Amino acid sequence: MANGLDDVVAAETVLSDVDGLGGRLTIRGHSLLELAGRWRYPQVARLLLDGFFDDLPGDAELAEAIGRARVEVFRRLQPIFPTLAALDVYSGMRAGIALLQDGGTLADALRLIAAPAVLTPALLRAKRGDKAVAPDKGADHAADMLRMLSGKADSPDLARALDTYLVTVCDHGLNASTFATRVVASTQAGLTSAILAGLGALKGPLHGGAPGPVVEMLDAIEASGDAAGWLRDEIVHGERIMGFGHRIYRVRDPRADVLKAVVRQLGGKGGTGRRLAFAEEVEQAALEVLRVAKPQRSIQTNVEFYTALLLEAAGFPAEAFSNVFAAGRIAGWIAHAREQQTTGRLIRPQSRYVGPVPDLVA
Ligand code: COA
Repeated sequence: MANGLDDVVAAETVLSDVDGLGGRLTIRGHSLLELAGRWRYPQVARLLLDGFFDDLPGDAELAEAIGRARVEVFRRLQPIFPTLAALDVYSGMRAGIALLQDGGTLADALRLIAAPAVLTPALLRAKRGDKAVAPDKGADHAADMLRMLSGKADSPDLARALDTYLVTVCDHGLNASTFATRVVASTQAGLTSAILAGLGALKGPLHGGAPGPVVEMLDAIEASGDAAGWLRDEIVHGERIMGFGHRIYRVRDPRADVLKAVVRQLGGKGGTGRRLAFAEEVEQAALEVLRVAKPQRSIQTNVEFYTALLLEAAGFPAEAFSNVFAAGRIAGWIAHAREQQTTGRLIRPQSRYVGPVPDLVA
């Protein structure tokens, strides 16, 4: 029996393929390198949703419809922003999404896509006592998310960087949150229920919760002044080095390089440039420490390491990194939910009973 379901094929999909030995990610016939930095997030969302909604419009119309959905989500949920902001920012976002209609129409799907991009800035602002900034339905999705956070039009470079991030994480095979999404979708429970399952799975530090701890790690290593020593100590105490290792990749996660290049473009000689140079030193030290400590397994840099730097540079606090991950992954989850509903059966594996047997009555 596979503890952790390694190598178990649990679905057929046309959506994405992770080549763990070649270090390649394919999204609906396009390599990640072809999409990241070239396609905008709504365009990639359309690519993923194609064939799963009869009324799916073209690229430009879909981008506009997502803009209108941002406005609608804001209008519906604004009255409860203060209540949601009493929770941590991820739980607040999840609770807000839970209030969206559990239907299966394109309009339901677009509200779900819009929701993390609206709720994350609104709840972060509410937490610091600032008034929420309303969405601009005509703006670019990533640029609007940043504007709703800072309250001003951010630099096009930052908006482009965030857009590239959202595209880079939009889908990734049958990862834990996508699997959870498909399991719930397989019961025909509705899109919002399926997305809530994905959101629950994404939160954990072994999955989408890793980039926040990466920032804490970088800060702690900087304070210690001894990267290799700090990292070795973690391993000795049985801790995992956040931002490294992957179930499928045995080589470097291709998303790490895409995001690192984006951070480098933002970098220059300012704070982001210095942070990147330091992170690169830590990365090399971590790879060496892991090589020595776990010689039986190839543990390489994963997407979360440079996610942390990119989202930090874009102005998000570490507590909201998983929210931004969800803002990107949500298009993939919706496409998987629809694919499961239309082509799959109820997912219902078996367990092997290893508990005590009842006494036999004579
Ligand atoms: N730091 C230290 N050791 C690690 C490690 C890491 N980041 N990733 C894997 N390992 C080690 C485990 O300790 C284990 O060692 P052991 O055999 O001596 O007990 C071995 O590698 C296998 O670990 P396992 O948990 O079975 O592998 P997995 O395929 O399930 O791991 C992750 C995948 C992502 C859960 C794991 O690499 C991890 O915890 N990484 C850190 C969190 C992270 O960055 N998550 C984001 C993923 S995109």
